[in-house]
Amino acid sequence: MDEDAILIKILKTVETKSPVNSAQLATDLGLVHNTVIGHLNSLKSRGDLIETTPVPVQSWELTDEGEFISQNGSYEAAVHKYIKDNGSTPLGDVMSKVPNAKIGFSKAMANGWVKKEKDNSVVLVVDEINDDVKTNLDSIKAKNYASVPLEKKNEFKKRKLLKEVVLTTFDVSKGKGFSLSLEKPETELTAEMIEDGSWKTKQFKNYNFDALGVPPTRGHLHPLLKVRDEFRKIFLEMGFSEMNTKNYVESSFWNFDALFQPQQHPARDAHDTFFLTNPKDTDSKNFPEKYVKDVKKVHSEGNYGSQGYRYNWLIEDATKNLLRTHTTANSARHLYELAKREKFEPVKYFSIDKVFRNETLDATHLAEFNQIEGLVVDYDLTLGDLIGVLYSFFSKLGITQLQFKPAYNPYTEPSMEIFCFHPGLNKWIEVGNSGMFRPEMLLPMGLPPNVNVIAWGLSLERPAMIKYKFNNIRDLVGPKVQLSSIYENPICQLDK
Ligand code: PHE
Repeated sequence: MDEDAILIKILKTVETKSPVNSAQLATDLGLVHNTVIGHLNSLKSRGDLIETTPVPVQSWELTDEGEFISQNGSYEAAVHKYIKDNGSTPLGDVMSKVPNAKIGFSKAMANGWVKKEKDNSVVLVVDEINDDVKTNLDSIKAKNYASVPLEKKNEFKKRKLLKEVVLTTFDVSKGKGFSLSLEKPETELTAEMIEDGSWKTKQFKNYNFDALGVPPTRGHLHPLLKVRDEFRKIFLEMGFSEMNTKNYVESSFWNFDALFQPQQHPARDAHDTFFLTNPKDTDSKNFPEKYVKDVKKVHSEGNYGSQGYRYNWLIEDATKNLLRTHTTANSARHLYELAKREKFEPVKYFSIDKVFRNETLDATHLAEFNQIEGLVVDYDLTLGDLIGVLYSFFSKLGITQLQFKPAYNPYTEPSMEIFCFHPGLNKWIEVGNSGMFRPEMLLPMGLPPNVNVIAWGLSLERPAMIKYKFNNIRDLVGPKVQLSSIYENPICQLDK
């Protein structure tokens, strides 16, 4: 019978007997159960012709020894037969001549088939016996499990003649698209079917309106990018424009000197800063000549009413290349450009980008992180303006309780650390740093003397870790990041 004929036979059985068990089908069709499973699978692959539900069935199988006994009779029957054929026999001979006589003899004794005389010879007790071990094993072999009493099965199991197996059978019933034909239902109506009229007789597959769509493949934004977007929106809403932050490599001049950071300042040490070996230096011709002179003067001699640091300022220190340690280096470049304009106009700038520090790495520190920086440049700004702008900035993040602590930065005076109250953690946490840029920084650039700059900076990682509940920064950035966590983390909406 070819496969299709068998499949149709199965369908016919299902039509009249639904549900029918696969074991029953195997018996009806005279096939091994596994073969029937194969046929059922091929029916299932052709649409919704049938439905199957698994039904575990307990059954028994003979072990190799059980199979041997089923073929040759039990060991006790063999002992009985030997005595019957050979008459009274010394026990020693029985043991050596009859295979497996040790078990066979004791069972034959227990069954009352033979007995041992005083002289140690074995004689028959009964002439005819019924070898029910073999009979029962034969029944099991023929799958007549019910005809063998449970205690017998258990006894055979103990004697390792029988083993219990759990077979997964299937109850087979009619499926939604049951039919006696193997023709696959069409999934689509084609132009050809309309043209040749075959659509009239074709079977069509029903639409499955419950099917889930295929998830579209798409990129996933890293949490830092999502939080960055939110901060960018806040700045844009507040009328700030974004500074260009493309240069990770910076000269010491813009990173430190322009910011009135003396050349002996500990932050300029290789312990805190990554210096470049190649190219080691920026050609000093790339610095604005007059500006460099004014920076040198304010550091070494003082100017504009400041006495400066009074040390020997060296251009060789200013040309050293480094990975920028803060985005304030970039702010300095923008302020210098602003000062060069013919007419000064107030501006509000921000940037969010990477900076690099030679830090000891731990759960909250990496050697590179992102800084959020904002600056307002206008006439006659005061510390009150800085505090005011910080309140309006942080209120857009849903933070309304702020505290300020006096701090020190070489380029700001006064300087303030910013703390906010975190209701979740129920404590004040440091969120940033701020201040008013010093005249020693602004005046060499050429900004009008009554123009002030208020500025603040914070890390992007910290709010991202709080927002996405990461305790370890390495779960957020670096090789240990779980891609699944990037795929699954929700969009960022800072609770405003
Ligand atoms: N540059 C400072 C830092 O790296 C942050 C800051 C920016 C401080 C602007 C004051 C003003 O921590």
